[in-house]
Amino acid sequence: MSEAPHVPVLLAEVVEAMAPAPGKRLVDATFGAGGYSRALLERGADVTGLDRDPTAARFAEPLTKEFPGRFRLLERRFSDLAEVMGEGGCDGVAFDLGVSSMQIDEAERGFSFMRDGPLDMRMGADGPSAADLVNTLEPAALARLIWELGEERGSRRIAAFITRRRAEQPFERTLDLAAVVEKALGGRRGAPVHPATRTFQALRMAVNEEMEELEAGLVAAEHALAPGGRLAIVTFHSLEDRMVKRYLAARSGRMPSASRHRPLAPEGPPPSFELLFTSARAPTEAEVRANPRARSAKLRAAVRTAAPAWKAAA
Ligand SMILES: C[S@@+](CC[C@H](N)C(=O)[O-])C[C@H]1O[C@@H](n2cnc3c(N)ncnc32)[C@H](O)[C@@H]1O
Repeated sequence: MSEAPHVPVLLAEVVEAMAPAPGKRLVDATFGAGGYSRALLERGADVTGLDRDPTAARFAEPLTKEFPGRFRLLERRFSDLAEVMGEGGCDGVAFDLGVSSMQIDEAERGFSFMRDGPLDMRMGADGPSAADLVNTLEPAALARLIWELGEERGSRRIAAFITRRRAEQPFERTLDLAAVVEKALGGRRGAPVHPATRTFQALRMAVNEEMEELEAGLVAAEHALAPGGRLAIVTFHSLEDRMVKRYLAARSGRMPSASRHRPLAPEGPPPSFELLFTSARAPTEAEVRANPRARSAKLRAAVRTAAPAWKAAA
């Protein structure tokens, strides 16, 4: 298989935030091609990699050989993190959200509107595919999905075009869907990004339940981290970053209260995290030039306090 290797984003910043050292039990919650895992292993830490994609296993073999007894990869969703590591069972968790370059580049996975392939988009091997959603959702539900997860203003028009077309012939291929979305939006009109970008993003996020996974993953990390443990999260778009920002703001006691005169909520459980830095870190211009995928990346990081994990809904 010829493929461009995935270039890890914000690697130096993530490594610094994770504070790897011999004896530390770290989790690379989104293993991918193992870029983060390798860097953490090279600094002496023990690493558990998680990836829901069974094809990630091919990148685990060299690490298992090179770092015997210090690395393992499990085919699991990161929402299972607390179950895998146990309560307080690790000293650091890194998330690098979204899809890998390998997943995008392989036409057969169906993630790309630039490559013809089956309309699949599943990172793992289970659950409904993008074709299932596109061919069966009610028009209103389809429009809502494209609006909420893609922030696509033409969502209703796109849903109407899709439902009209699928009545004649169901969607099976990526380029077929991309062409219909493009038509719904009135062509390219010199737009710098492909008109199907946001629709494909929305479908990918829905197929893989990415927002639900992120929320559950954050809660799981809070349980799995021992006091002093590090959490580092790299996001790639505003929906993800907003969720992480709010989660950490609440857990670190920085949530503004309802009243302007009481800027910090006086009640509530003691903070379970302390922020490592308040604004998100972004890649340097040089990194974005070298790796355009880094363009919208943001890193947030925090240290686990000794306070008990909050109840999930807090
Ligand atoms: C951006 S890539 C990670 C790249 C990695 N940091 C590297 O340097 O190679 C994201 C990976 O996370 C995996 N992934 C996404 N959501 C997941 C989830 N909920 N549970 C486990 N793995 C997930 C994807 O399958 C993909 O391989």
